Amino acid sequence: MSMHDFIQALPKAELHLHIEGTLEPELMFALAQRNGVELPYHSVEALRAAYDFGNLQDFLDLYYQGMSVLQTEQDYYDLTMAYLQKSRAQNVLHTEIFFDPQGHTERGIEFSTVFNGIHQALKDGRHELGISSRLIMCFLRHLEESDAMATLQQAMPYKEHIIGVGLDSSELGHPPAKFKNVYALAREAGFLPVAHAGEEGPAEYVASALDDLQIVRIDHGNRCLDDPALVKRIASEQIPLTVCPLSNLKLCVVTDMRQHPLRQMLNSGLLVTLNSDDPAYFGGYVNENYIAVQQALNLSRTELADLARNSFTASFLSREDRREMLAKIDQAVAG
Ligand code: HPA
Ligand code: ZN
Repeated sequence: MSMHDFIQALPKAELHLHIEGTLEPELMFALAQRNGVELPYHSVEALRAAYDFGNLQDFLDLYYQGMSVLQTEQDYYDLTMAYLQKSRAQNVLHTEIFFDPQGHTERGIEFSTVFNGIHQALKDGRHELGISSRLIMCFLRHLEESDAMATLQQAMPYKEHIIGVGLDSSELGHPPAKFKNVYALAREAGFLPVAHAGEEGPAEYVASALDDLQIVRIDHGNRCLDDPALVKRIASEQIPLTVCPLSNLKLCVVTDMRQHPLRQMLNSGLLVTLNSDDPAYFGGYVNENYIAVQQALNLSRTELADLARNSFTASFLSREDRREMLAKIDQAVAG
């Protein structure tokens, strides 16, 4: 079996995926037409050519512009269903999806419109595709904490369908402590706390996300490697990292995939998972991320299978569901 087929055959979970980042240029143009939105690009090719980012902010500017075509419940449904179908085709059996309510409510779209479209697609995905899922609501960190508070209030009626809260958008200059109060309220309401930390921000932001926000999973986390004592802590507590290799390359967090710190993370005993982040913008879904690091770092099949195991171990699935998924990996590895 080729390495490619081995990766395809591995059952996998995805734990770091922004649903708005799955908006492929073709769908963006179709929705722009459907909703009468004018895009500043005349073709899919011209849009794709603009996906050349020097840092996180370069990407975010296009990401927020792109999501402006999302307006109706059907748009959110179509976006989510397209992602689920792609994931299922890659043997992703479980996915934990971020959404950015403020990226929509800021434009006058109702929270309920966004939620209902995504939620209905997740329900149908479960029944029609057999893919299980969870939904995580992110706060935009470039906005004020009071804005996040208002968003948390809007989410309350839906809380049994939203497993956690996250923190994304521009990291530098917006440390985790800015959101200490809203995270305390969210935890009290039963949301599981996660946060982007250490993508562009320093190791101190990762420590602060753990201490001030009490997060149970770290999104990205790359820069924790600058602080050996912090790495030891994260490894001994087995707090998972959701690493996104193609994202790291496209946003210049790493300059070359061969320089990616994945192996260093594994050797340090960190519970690392592989994820696609914003696949429509970064050039690949889950399998392309596995393939990219396998080739650049010459990962073995054992290491790939361990990464797939980690994806379920680090998930918010029940213990029983996790065990079932791990058994499926053992079967796939045995051929
Ligand atoms: N980092 C921060 N914010 C984001 C990202 C990311 O990789 N993707 C979407 N919003
Ligand atoms: Zn992300």
